[in-house]
Amino acid sequence: MRKRLFIDGDWVEAGEYRPLYAPYGGGQIAEIAYAGAAEVNRAIEAAEKARPVMARMPAHERASILERLSALIGEKAEECARLIALETAKPLKAARQEAARTVMTYKFAAEEARRIQGETIPMDAAPGGEDRIAYTIRQPLGVVAAITPFNFPMNLVAHKVGPAIAAGNTIVLKPAGQTPLTALLLAELVQQAGLPKGALNVVTGSGSAIGDFLVTDGRVKGVTFTGSPDVGISIRHKAGLKKVTLELGSNSALIVDKDVDADAMMARAVTGAFSFAGQICISLQRIYVHEQLFDEFVRKFVAQTETLKLGDPLDPETDVSALISSGDAERTMQWIEEARERGAVVATGGRREGNVVAPTVLLHVDPQASLSCREAFAPIVMINKVATMEDAIREVNDSRFGLQAGIYTRDLGTALHAAEALEVGGVMINDIPTFRVDHMPYGGVKDSGIGREGVKYAVQEMTELKLVCFKK
Ligand code: SIN
Repeated sequence: MRKRLFIDGDWVEAGEYRPLYAPYGGGQIAEIAYAGAAEVNRAIEAAEKARPVMARMPAHERASILERLSALIGEKAEECARLIALETAKPLKAARQEAARTVMTYKFAAEEARRIQGETIPMDAAPGGEDRIAYTIRQPLGVVAAITPFNFPMNLVAHKVGPAIAAGNTIVLKPAGQTPLTALLLAELVQQAGLPKGALNVVTGSGSAIGDFLVTDGRVKGVTFTGSPDVGISIRHKAGLKKVTLELGSNSALIVDKDVDADAMMARAVTGAFSFAGQICISLQRIYVHEQLFDEFVRKFVAQTETLKLGDPLDPETDVSALISSGDAERTMQWIEEARERGAVVATGGRREGNVVAPTVLLHVDPQASLSCREAFAPIVMINKVATMEDAIREVNDSRFGLQAGIYTRDLGTALHAAEALEVGGVMINDIPTFRVDHMPYGGVKDSGIGREGVKYAVQEMTELKLVCFKK
């Protein structure tokens, strides 16, 4: 499979092609175009040319395109899931969920396209504002650069492309180097859905070369990025006055109070820690359990973890497969070793076969260990004992990140206090931090990013607010 670039509604050759390998098994799965400066420039030119077309397009037409796109993905859901599984090593059952969520995300985008609205402003509330009628409108930014990660190659693309189209923008999409295939399938489908030429362009290749070009080009008015904090912070520095939305991951935590029914929540907690081998920004990485429940919780968590099936992502029974690269598998093993050297106990796991790291549970982890204070993006979770819920909240907040957190408790006062005190973008009461549906606001504080996704909120990030004021 030789894959070209998608620019101005056409498949375009690049000067260079490189092989793409499957993370599980390592076989070559495609040959991918590597865009150079000239091709990225062409993609921006095409998006700039399509800008007035999209800006003038009525909301109902944008909505219809998004509805058709959603339906086309629905028809090809199994093909999409298999492609996701192949290029990411996401187990098929999780890949099927991602395909289904992508259908929903474009549906939400179609709905939002129809309700982008402003408000009337009571101008006479201020002296001097008498005899004026004013209202606000939301206008598209123009060309938006979307830089997306490998871990949800369809749905996190949808969270950028869907709202951008809903708002009447045009897009240059740079998918993650490991996961171009689903983005290129999307390019085929947007054409069938009737999106005008140049409104979506897909440039594949080296992240930093393409990313730098997009982020610094004056024709690009907005940048939306999901990925690592280092890259996100560098984008913020380079982007000047462009609008920037950054979703940068976390070391998400769960608090478990003493009165909780451990059996009832165990499957959910284990899913939160090990879905897609922990390569989810809201993956459950740190668990703080009240000392009265600690031993029972650990015993049950470990037993449930040991039921997970490891192996081929295309086997429908597989729960955990390969990490995205051998480098990540090596790093994960180093983090386990480092935590052990600092006094942690490995309760289960701690082994690796190829790029598949066995789901690993560590107890009593030092807060300075990488597993506690950095983002793991791997199937490793720590469980520490706390004496009070206040201690647990302090531990959760002792982090450079703040995306989502969860707390299981039967005490309403504790729940309400945690909701206020946890320094994160979203608090899940009686659920894991790894919860997301696609219309809720999603994003973080601290080094977890700026701005919010969740279609309605992304539309706000991708539009400019304009005031219109009439003097009578
Ligand atoms: C992410 O990894 O940030 C996305 C999580 C999700 O959409 O479930």
